[in-house]
Amino acid sequence: MKIIIGSDHGGYSLKNLIIAHLEQQSIEIQDMGCHSEASCDYPIIAKEVAKQVLLTNNRGILVCGTGIGMSIAANKFKGIRASLCGDTYSARMTRKHNNSNILCLGERVIGSGLALDIVDEWLITDFEGGRHERRINMLELE
Ligand code: RB5
Repeated sequence: MKIIIGSDHGGYSLKNLIIAHLEQQSIEIQDMGCHSEASCDYPIIAKEVAKQVLLTNNRGILVCGTGIGMSIAANKFKGIRASLCGDTYSARMTRKHNNSNILCLGERVIGSGLALDIVDEWLITDFEGGRHERRINMLELE
């Protein structure tokens, strides 16, 4: 599995920490930007990551100041189930029950230690399927 990752300026530092953390585990990364702390627009990055996740059937991580803008933007794309998580329980459950394919994090909201734990939990947890498959299919009806 390859992780498609992106941030705006508000999530740039945490994105770099996550990349280093995942590379240490020999996980392949595709970084869709941004590439500096200069101010940029989170919807553009969210769109690039969402498109790439759908195209390659991999999973993605999006970071902004709160994680909220990224999650709103990513969830506009059919087939994307982006989850804003601030705790490891939610990270685990959104994989098990929602088959979350994008994790959103807020750099200005949570500490980096917790953020990396959330990433790890989200990455190792599998979708449970069954009744949850029926429910996530209902998200695509309109
Ligand atoms: C940028 O200042 C900030 O608005 C952005 O990172 C994000 O938090 C938006 O939801």
